Amino acid sequence: RIFDQEDAPVERLVTRTVMSGAMIGKGSYRHFMQKEIFEQPVVIGDTLQSYVDPLSRRVTLPDMPFDFADIPRLTASACGTAFYAGMIGKYWFEQVARLPVDIDIASEFRYREAPLPENGAALFISQSGETIDTLSALRYTRDQKQHILSIVNQQESGIARESDVVMKTLAGPEIGVASTKAFTTQLVVLACLALAAGRARGSLSPEAEAELTSALIEVPAQASYFLEREAQLIEIAHEMAEASDILYMGRGSMYPLALEGALKFKEISYLHAEGYAAGELKHGAMALIDEHVPIVVCAPSGPLFDKTAGNIQEVIARGGRVVLISDAQGIEAIGDNVTHAVQVPEVSPFVAPILYALPLQLLAYHTAVIKGTDVDKPRNLAKSVTVE
Ligand code: AGP
Repeated sequence: RIFDQEDAPVERLVTRTVMSGAMIGKGSYRHFMQKEIFEQPVVIGDTLQSYVDPLSRRVTLPDMPFDFADIPRLTASACGTAFYAGMIGKYWFEQVARLPVDIDIASEFRYREAPLPENGAALFISQSGETIDTLSALRYTRDQKQHILSIVNQQESGIARESDVVMKTLAGPEIGVASTKAFTTQLVVLACLALAAGRARGSLSPEAEAELTSALIEVPAQASYFLEREAQLIEIAHEMAEASDILYMGRGSMYPLALEGALKFKEISYLHAEGYAAGELKHGAMALIDEHVPIVVCAPSGPLFDKTAGNIQEVIARGGRVVLISDAQGIEAIGDNVTHAVQVPEVSPFVAPILYALPLQLLAYHTAVIKGTDVDKPRNLAKSVTVE
């Protein structure tokens, strides 16, 4: 029974959730997390199809309350894995659409009284749509008269209800506490938004848009192909399970991915892991490096590869054991010097973060299985943090 502020009874439309019983079984998988990792080729494809026309190779968005050409910058906020997706989105918006993005974790943003531009736009990313810090950050921007856009998986949720526009991720129910398919489908939506913003702001030619959209369309098949290499990640996980500290590093959009890899690892294996910008290692973290500390490096071949390869050599010179995640070209260049080389299909640097998330998820998952933790319900954590 629902009442309004004057205590008068009110009626609310009852909607049945999209979740169906059949959708939330584990199937033949040992854990929901493993099932959800392997659902990614399909749900990435489903999410893509709702924003990209495969024939015209153009992104189409729902009606927006603002034009990307008119906003001076985009304010973004989220928590945990969703925040790391937003950090990757920042690289895309700024490189492809020349749109400045100011992103902050929601628990800080909601209290920092950020000055926001007149007629500005704010973006919130949330799998559950109920994270209290993210919802409170949204309400701050609404009080500041911002247009509110959200990327949400649970469409019947507080954040969805209080947004002007909701961009849905079609990941389906995500049961495992550690977010996997929600993360990669959030990246798909962010990539589509960046392409649409680039077109609107005149910073992306039709040819460049078609090329980047084509790269996106290829991701489900490449993800399927990569997931067949699970056995190699299980082998590496046995070594990682013995370590007490793990470092993850990357450059450019691989830096937020390194942060996400470390979060995935620590939250289900209970081992300490830390993500680092590769260029920052020499400013302190290098002191941690010895033969007991594995370093996972995400480094697709491309404009930042050589710099990252230099960081890898520095780490190896100090006895560090490197797990390199790269494509054939990258492994060809420095694969002989590293302890393990995990090969990912050659992809455009634009979509690399989506594909490179998969080895990080499998590494975290199998290490946790070896450690014997409660993978789907890790200690001290909840699937949605609805209280402060
Ligand atoms: C990620 O694996 C964690 N479960 C956690 O960081 C999560 O991403 C964060 O709590 C945000 O949740 P939301 O996407 O539902 O808002």
